[in-house]
Amino acid sequence: MAELVRFSVAMPEDLLEQFDSLVERRGLAKNRSEIIRDLVRDALVEEQWHDPDAVIVGTLTLIFNHHANDLQNKLDHIQHTAHQLIISSMHIHLDAHNCLEIIAMRGRSEEIRKISESLLGVKGVKHGSLTATTTGTGL
Ligand code: NI
Repeated sequence: MAELVRFSVAMPEDLLEQFDSLVERRGLAKNRSEIIRDLVRDALVEEQWHDPDAVIVGTLTLIFNHHANDLQNKLDHIQHTAHQLIISSMHIHLDAHNCLEIIAMRGRSEEIRKISESLLGVKGVKHGSLTATTTGTGL
């Protein structure tokens, strides 16, 4: 880890109170400085996410009913076309009808977003979301 540098921050008192309750909710293992570092990293990931050429790691979750017509085949087909982006995937049979699929990807943010939108757009997918993160240096 790089050397830590101290700096002071000014903010309105009520905002600081809300920040301190956030610190408290995140537990004893984290203090103000660590939470501020987390928030800065979040902002940097968010910025990278908007750069189409940035290499990011994305996790897509999908919920669907496996009885839906040809749905699993369509999802598999799309994933095969993107095999170079997909690091790993996990399929969980949630109950008699519903499946959860978790797909981990690494690549250009534009490609990850495109493939995620194709998967989320398949008829029968009930819910899903893409979470982006990064392994960027300095984070
Ligand atoms: Ni299943």
